[in-house]
Amino acid sequence: MNFLKRTDTCGNLRKEDCDKIVILNGWVQTVRDLGGLIFIDLRDRYGITQLVIHPETQAELAERSKEIKSEFVIWAKGKVRMRENPNPNIPTGLIEIQLEDFGIINKAELPPFEIVDDIGTSEEIKLKYRFLDLRRHSLQKQFIVRNDVYQVVHKYFNENNFIEVETPFLMKSTPEGARDYLVPSRIYKGRFYALPQSPQLYKQILMMAGFDRYVQIVKCFRDEDLRSDRQPEFTQIDLEMSFIEREDVLSMTEGFFARLWKEVLGIEVLTPFLRMSYDEAMNRYGSDKPDLRFEIELTDVSDIVKNSEFKVFSDTVNGGGVVKVLNAKGCADFSRKKIDELTELAKKYGAKGIAWLKIVDGEINSPIAKFLKQNEIEEIKKRTNCENGDLLLFSSDIWARACTILGALRLEIAKQTGIIDAVKNKFSFLWILDFPLLEFDEDSGRYAAMHHPFTSPMDEDISLLDSEPAKARAKAYDVVINGAEVGGGSIRIHNREIQEKMFNLLGLSKEEADSKFGFLLEALKYGCPPHGGIALGLDRIVMILTGTENIRDVIAFPKTTSGLSLMDGAPSNVDDIQLKELGIKLIE
Ligand code: AMO
Ligand code: AMP
Repeated sequence: MNFLKRTDTCGNLRKEDCDKIVILNGWVQTVRDLGGLIFIDLRDRYGITQLVIHPETQAELAERSKEIKSEFVIWAKGKVRMRENPNPNIPTGLIEIQLEDFGIINKAELPPFEIVDDIGTSEEIKLKYRFLDLRRHSLQKQFIVRNDVYQVVHKYFNENNFIEVETPFLMKSTPEGARDYLVPSRIYKGRFYALPQSPQLYKQILMMAGFDRYVQIVKCFRDEDLRSDRQPEFTQIDLEMSFIEREDVLSMTEGFFARLWKEVLGIEVLTPFLRMSYDEAMNRYGSDKPDLRFEIELTDVSDIVKNSEFKVFSDTVNGGGVVKVLNAKGCADFSRKKIDELTELAKKYGAKGIAWLKIVDGEINSPIAKFLKQNEIEEIKKRTNCENGDLLLFSSDIWARACTILGALRLEIAKQTGIIDAVKNKFSFLWILDFPLLEFDEDSGRYAAMHHPFTSPMDEDISLLDSEPAKARAKAYDVVINGAEVGGGSIRIHNREIQEKMFNLLGLSKEEADSKFGFLLEALKYGCPPHGGIALGLDRIVMILTGTENIRDVIAFPKTTSGLSLMDGAPSNVDDIQLKELGIKLIE
């Protein structure tokens, strides 16, 4: 062995340990040669401990220490003693190790960046050298919380009679609304496995197989546009229960979050969580995952402007659309430029424009004021509680889009005015219920399932499937924390006829349904219990627990937003031989 094994870590020594002879192993954070004293900060996962050499009496050690550079891996032996200049910022800050001997276990090249926080190194470099970036304690901390989450999952669900079952990664495609990652079969050329977008169908089949309660911490793969809260592979806490109704899944989930918050943060979460229908969330907050830590709400003024001379408004309302307003309190000082920027943001959500009205020194200031009658303005002011200094933003559009546009502006304004910063330490848990069963997809010209095709309609809405399917509501639910969708699930269809009808509504012919989901329809023939479940986004939960903005901080080896793994270079080209074996030819 070329090193002395540690007796302690770089994080556990305290003043009680004074006079002990200890051995530490770790990475050199810094070496500071002050002439009369040489300090070496040694780091491992557990902390940082200061080593000290006195060149006057330790000439040989001092000479040898000149070779040590940052990120060298060393062993160090010495006596624990009180520091002359304590560092109150670290747990080991009262002590230091009077070095008696050390050895270099492994040298390190000069790293492309220093292993400290916030040094402005580009994200690309940090991802390429992920093994170095991951040495930062602030990043390692996220993974310790992530590990805590795994432990609570295993304990909580085990105590509640769930069993963990692993489901396949090489499977037949299951739709969750994203594109599949495909894996070509070598044996059956021209055929492909799909990586699971979720284990949805397997967990339902497990219920049909009598497993009663299933849970799994599972990777899911979705080829979709990436964002700060979305990775192409991510982790779900996936669960399913038999002989239950919606309330059982909701309370099981609430119990899990309460346990998690208690164990990880020491915070009591009040249950049951607040509940809101999809319609109400959209109407009041312009989002199906509203951040309820702050109050700003949207208002509908369609009836007031229905006959307005401002055609943008009246034509929309008479054409079946709505005019919705967001009162940005105290934002009348927003410049023209700032309002233009908000309009640009709105356009990303499909807005054709944003009309505005502000009250400055008691005077109305608005490009559309000339088109509005005095009584219309008065009514709008009254309904939106618009006072001196306020800025009203109007969106006139079809209902869902008008709501979504103002929902996005609501968040942006909360960000810009410091409201979000002020509520940073609050947690707001919310259920969104009563989702529509279907949504109309303009591109394909047909209905798509809003959650997934296995979600049960509300009992009282089943007859609507034949008459007005767009009006049918689903037994689906989402759980939202601080404006992030951290989970979604539903009560499933457990009746074969209704499942077939659902496929039919989604435009699948009998043959297509059989070829895609024949195994499910077959299983439904042989005795299926009523069942339902939910999948929680583990990565997003860790983000909230650790207060991180970017999902990459909670995934050890994440992809960039364009789906690259910069450290290992995936995706990469493969040998012609490999392609040939798979029967695949690339087109130029
Ligand atoms: P759903 O598609 O809503 O439901 O996914 C459940 C939760 O997984 C998280 N999530 C993601 N996290 C990071 N990156 C992504 N690309 C990503 N996509 C989803 C979200 C989301 O709420 N089978 C159903 C569940 C069920 O019906 O039981 C499903 O997968 O937090
Ligand atoms: P226009 O008549 O198109 O020049 O629009 C007049 C004003 O209405 C401008 O301030 C536009 O930004 C705004 N506007 C246009 N379309 C919409 C819309 N769909 N919703 C809200 N405001 C709009």
